[in-house]
Amino acid sequence: AKAEPLKVIISGAPASGKGTQCELITKKYGLVHISAGDLLRAEIAAASENGKLAKEYMEKGQLVPNEIVVMMVKERLLQPDSQQKGWLLDGYPRSSSQAAALEDYGIRPDVFILLDVSEDVLVERVVGRRLDPLTGKIYHLKYSPPENNEISSRLTQRFDDTEEKVKLRLRTHHENVDDVLSVYKDITVKVDGNVAKENVFEQIDAALTHVAEQRKVNSGSL
Ligand code: AP5
Repeated sequence: AKAEPLKVIISGAPASGKGTQCELITKKYGLVHISAGDLLRAEIAAASENGKLAKEYMEKGQLVPNEIVVMMVKERLLQPDSQQKGWLLDGYPRSSSQAAALEDYGIRPDVFILLDVSEDVLVERVVGRRLDPLTGKIYHLKYSPPENNEISSRLTQRFDDTEEKVKLRLRTHHENVDDVLSVYKDITVKVDGNVAKENVFEQIDAALTHVAEQRKVNSGSL
């Protein structure tokens, strides 16, 4: 039998490097990247009712209500591409009730990656982050500068990327992180996220290779 596609959750504090690592993981493993934050920002861009409500919470660094987030993520996870290629869930679950909703739907990851980054590093990463609205690529003025002037001139900053707002986001993170971790304790891989992005990826790559190998053994295809 062929091994089932990989199901991965990546978590970590605001600006710990989840999005950056997701770019590298999807490139190598072909998983469907599902970012709760990106789905919410798409709702805001579409000026939907959910988007308008979500923005009020995001401006304050608080969790957007489950009524909006849970269905949105679940529907994306159950799309055919996610089911066929496997998925990489980023920024969800962020509370015990969100984790419980996944469990209720019978959705459980193979591995839960936790990016561990110190607080002073997080603030520096937030303040220097820039986004390319054309490609969606994540940059940092110091650590991942844009390749040329054309890209540089069109870079944008997220509305919640100020030092003041990241402090609020961090507080929300600290309030909820232990509840989420306790649900996935047995499948958690803690990664040192303070180092350069290539070195963070090496650690994640090793963990995913290990999980994928184990699944092949278990499914009898090795
Ligand atoms: P979301 O968009 O998920 O934001 P976040 O969790 O705060 O995480 P970020 O996207 O800020 O950071 P990241 O970890 O992806 O880091 P990145 O790779 O960009 O959520 C935003 C808001 O939406 C929340 O506050 C909440 O209101 C709402 N929300 C989202 N999910 C929700 C949910 N489930 N329930 C309810 N509400 C929800 O990296 C950051 C910077 O550092 C970049 O500039 C990058 O270039 C740089 N960098 C990355 N790695 C390295 C490295 N190794 N070395 C040096 N620089 C690096």
